[in-house]
Formats: sequence, C-alpha cells, structure tokens
Amino acid sequence: MAEQTLVADRTGELRMDTAAKEERYRDVAAMIESAIDGEADLLAGMTTVVCLLHNAFPYYFWTGFYRRVGPTRLLVGPYQGTMGCLDIEFGRGVCGAAAREGRTQLVADVHAFPGHIACDSASASEIVVPVLDARGELIAVLDVDSTLPAAFDETDQRWLERIVGMLREKQALPVVSAG
Ligand code: SME
Repeated sequence: MAEQTLVADRTGELRMDTAAKEERYRDVAAMIESAIDGEADLLAGMTTVVCLLHNAFPYYFWTGFYRRVGPTRLLVGPYQGTMGCLDIEFGRGVCGAAAREGRTQLVADVHAFPGHIACDSASASEIVVPVLDARGELIAVLDVDSTLPAAFDETDQRWLERIVGMLREKQALPVVSAG
C-alpha cells in the first residue's frame, strides 16, 4: 500500500473556504476509503480516519472518536490532539447530545452550548457526528474541535457523515472497560 498523508500547513491562515474544503475532503475521503477498504477491524479503521483527517485540515485542533461502551456511556479514543476527557454520559456536552439525539451537532461557539465539556479551553467550535453500525445502532461519535470560532459548516458535516459511513461494516473488539 502506497498511501501518503496530506499534511496541512498550520503556520498560516487556518480557515479554509468552501471550495478549498471540498477539494481537500474529496482527496482525504478517497484516501481513507482506499486505506481501510478490506480491513474489517473497527479500531484500525477509526485510527486511520482520525490520522488522515487530523493531518489534512489546518483548522482541526482535536480529532477523535468517543466509543459507546455501555447503554449511555462514551469512552475516548482513538484521537489526536491535546488530552481529551475520558468518558462522557449520553446527554452531556456536545458529544452526549449527538449520541442521545443520533444527529450531527454543529456548534459555532462551544462556550454558548449548555453543558459543553471543556477538555481544552482552546477549543472554540466543534462538530460531532454519530457513527452507526450496519444495524443502525450508535457505536461511537466523531468529535472534531477547532480553535477558530464557527470553523465547521454543512461541507464538513456532509463529508464527515460520509466518511464515518465507511466504518459501518467493521467489527468492534469486545469492550474491556464498560463501567
Ligand atoms: N467537546 C466535547 C468534549 C470532548 S472534547 O472536546 C475532546 C463535548 O462537549 O462534548
């Protein structure tokens, strides 16, 4: 396999316009698809998604999954970025809202979101996308945070929903820590 990683420049302007986002998501989605195609392991798939997304976009500050490890409990990982909170109950914060409602949450200003969990005070905006398995059950959420206000829009939502759909048929390992 000769995959390369698209590496964004984080030293200049972090924000991307719609056309630039579209082009970058198209390239990254194709890379992710070819990298995880044929690999049945969910953790390997998630790790690859996080790596390729996180490195490709200058405005991504924290990129990762919270996996469902109980009826209403999410547990962190895999992720890239600064330290994330370990576990989140359904209904708590943006991740908990996405898990409970089963709908993508686009939050332009995290400080205005009731119950937002501030793992890192540098985060200003975020998007959280539910991840479903082949039976339509919620198995995780994908959380992406940015230090820019209102960094995410419908372009991010459409592509991230499509990308997490690539994990639908993969197999999870048994959960060890399901408190
Ligand atoms: N943003 C999340 C918490 C997780 S961290 O940002 C890594 C939330 O409020 O759901």
